[in-house]
Amino acid sequence: MTTFDLNAGAVAPVAHEMELTALRVTGTVPDDLDGVLVRNGPNPLSGRFEGDGVLSWWPEAAMLHGIAFERGRVGGYRNRWLRTQRWARAHAPESMSTWPDTNPNVNVIRHAGETLALAEGGAPLAITSTLDTLGPARRHPGIATGMTAHPKIDPRTGELVTFRADWKAPFLRYGVSDARGEPTVDVEIALPAPSMMHDIAITETYSILLDLNVGYDFAMLARGHRMPLRWHHERGSRLGVIPRHGGEVRWFEIAPCFIQHVVNAYDADETTIVLDAVRYPWFLRLTADGGAFEDNPVGVLWRYRIDLKSGTVEETQVGEDGIELPRINEQWTGRPYRYGYAAEQPTPVELRGIVRYDWHRGTLERYAVPRGDQNSEPVFVPRRTATAEDDGWLLCCVYRRATDTSDVIVLNACDLAAGPVATVHLPTRIPAGFHGAWLANQGRSVA
Ligand SMILES: [Fe+2]
Repeated sequence: MTTFDLNAGAVAPVAHEMELTALRVTGTVPDDLDGVLVRNGPNPLSGRFEGDGVLSWWPEAAMLHGIAFERGRVGGYRNRWLRTQRWARAHAPESMSTWPDTNPNVNVIRHAGETLALAEGGAPLAITSTLDTLGPARRHPGIATGMTAHPKIDPRTGELVTFRADWKAPFLRYGVSDARGEPTVDVEIALPAPSMMHDIAITETYSILLDLNVGYDFAMLARGHRMPLRWHHERGSRLGVIPRHGGEVRWFEIAPCFIQHVVNAYDADETTIVLDAVRYPWFLRLTADGGAFEDNPVGVLWRYRIDLKSGTVEETQVGEDGIELPRINEQWTGRPYRYGYAAEQPTPVELRGIVRYDWHRGTLERYAVPRGDQNSEPVFVPRRTATAEDDGWLLCCVYRRATDTSDVIVLNACDLAAGPVATVHLPTRIPAGFHGAWLANQGRSVA
């Protein structure tokens, strides 16, 4: 697998926590943007990565970045490492016992009055929208020991649907919490082998589990690999369909693949589920001698139509272009929807450009980002008065190679090609990281 300098360019970490105000802005910040764009990702406590591969990158300490928008102006920028035992060991050993031993460095969600930083395999941490760590989640007791970084929230019922993929039998736990964060479903699901599951999809009635060709291989540890995950061509891929509130899981075989992120899913009719996802023909495949990973291919948009009556799945490649980090207007999660947004993935080591896919027209629109620069996922923020699905803004961090700094751009989600309506120019970097969220202001409470 290609190695690269983790201490240069878009993924390079920052060494300090800071607070910046009076940021330079080009264009006009929409006056209905009122909240914080928060980003999560790995950033070593030393300010420098050790090593040069992806496994030297993603397990590092969680750092959050926030850019506050206050109705037509930019309030400022703040970054904070999450307060964990790992952070305390490096920066405040006397507070070691105060903080949990976890490192949720992948995503941020808000549910049941709590804002949570998340990463699979560890406990979530509750944070404020000013990025201070509150401590362990006070709600969601059923998943307090760990869950996916990509649970789904049903916009109508307020339920949170989640899972935990484990390397210990029975390998999978599936759960639902109600709108108050109280668990209503918590079931174990036996898999034949431990599987790398990163994301889940929901419809109004079902949840879709992804048991694909990437799984654990603990013999890799003895061969010097730091992470025992690899492509298993022989094991096959399957989609698991479970009624949202529990019941029998029906498994549907599909062609070998890996899906890191789903776009959305919905019930097309009483016996048909549509699942849209970014699909890789293979992922984390070892070289013939088993000593290293091949370069991954790029991910491409696919649509799966699951026929519950016949037990078959129609698999359709939708585009040719590499994309990743898909987002939607989350008010349409689990419902028939029209628009998907994503970062372009021109090469396996580059996220550059933003696309919008229109399922009704079958068209792809793009906002190009210059060669050398890179960008994060586009986070959709609905307008305050929105009624249409695409009536809103896309917020995106763009790393500028020439200045080694990041801009935060605001695009009109209806018109990407017009370019940003506003650009916030930071005098610092927001390292590439993983995922982000929009935390709308909720009065004076920041928790
Ligand atoms: Fe992810």
